[in-house]
Amino acid sequence: MISADLIITNAHIMTVSAQGEIKNGCVVAKNGTILDVFEGENTSYHADKVIDAKSKLVLPGFVDCHTHLVHAGSRANELQYRLQGMSYQDIQLMGGGIHASVRDTRAASEDELFEQSLERAKLCLKHGTTTTEIKSGYGLEPVTEAKILKVIRRLNNESDLDTVATFLGPHVYPLDQDPAAYLDWLLHEGLDLAKKQAEFVDIYCDVGAYSFEDTERFLTAAKAKGLPLKIHSGQFEALGATGLAADLGAVSADHLDRVNDAEFDAMLRAGTVPVFLPGCSYYLKSTYPNARPWLDAGMPVALATDYNPGTCPSLSIPMMMSLAVMHMGFTPEEALTAVTLNAAKALKRDHLIGSLEIGKQADILICNVKDPDDMIAMFGSNVISGVVKKAFYINY
Ligand code: NIG
Ligand code: FE
Repeated sequence: MISADLIITNAHIMTVSAQGEIKNGCVVAKNGTILDVFEGENTSYHADKVIDAKSKLVLPGFVDCHTHLVHAGSRANELQYRLQGMSYQDIQLMGGGIHASVRDTRAASEDELFEQSLERAKLCLKHGTTTTEIKSGYGLEPVTEAKILKVIRRLNNESDLDTVATFLGPHVYPLDQDPAAYLDWLLHEGLDLAKKQAEFVDIYCDVGAYSFEDTERFLTAAKAKGLPLKIHSGQFEALGATGLAADLGAVSADHLDRVNDAEFDAMLRAGTVPVFLPGCSYYLKSTYPNARPWLDAGMPVALATDYNPGTCPSLSIPMMMSLAVMHMGFTPEEALTAVTLNAAKALKRDHLIGSLEIGKQADILICNVKDPDDMIAMFGSNVISGVVKKAFYINY
């Protein structure tokens, strides 16, 4: 018998790899990685920890490739304004929206910000997310941007969640500084900070956020420093930045509610990962984009929560999968690939996570549903009954 740390038996496994679906099989983990995935009963391995999945669904840990998880305070009050008819942009123009989160995040100490964010990190794990990308962007000034990046790193080191840091210094223009002076900081010291403390840079190009011209300057400067690019674009209007980002070789372009044909072609050529964020359409009560053309073109389409206190205060990846199936043309299997392997591609980590394959990190979910259809059907319910993180079973 070969010794291992953990064996999951009697599992209905969706490997999200070339091995496909295994109706009844086992996953074996050792030293934080997957040692074997096979059909049938276990006759080769021994481990102290053996979990009988009782024919339930076993999946790779979810990868949430777009969040703004580190912020202080809440903006639940904005719900009432929006129910009374105010738009997201109206609230921002009044000094609310992102600016309200900036004020709260600046005022919080590093430890306060860490404690608030840690509660959310635990919630991610409870709902099956084992890796979360987190953006800065509620500082809009050097010291607070650095504080957010530090908290993202601390979450990685002091919780079971793996985090990936993205520098989103250009989230909106700050209210208390000359925009040109802030842009100058972003292009120099801001990018130096990103180079040291982040894996990606991102910019929000839209009405009420950065202009096309400033986006071009920022992304070009970031690329020259060798930083991998992401972009928020086409949420409210297509300003041309999606095509620009693809032409600059961006790893992902996110939101994509409004994209023209030339931009679609540019993304296809560049291999830029399209990331859809259906929680925003749900919470802002706007139209869902149709993902079918992107899926049919063979692009590695990803889905994420975009967790943030204003446009999607939900951390549930299964909820996003349900929205994508019911409103955006995904099949349940496509939605699963979008929150695992393709989301890992959007983070350049698909060699490490996103599927149950020998040699990959042992991030594994045991669900209390029998198949992906069942998971989509039970929208809004937490269907995760066990989480394995790097071969260790976490009991929530
Ligand atoms: O991705 N759209 C820009 N940024 C966030 C919203 C951030 C906020 O409202 O706090 C987003 O939707
Ligand atoms: Fe976002």
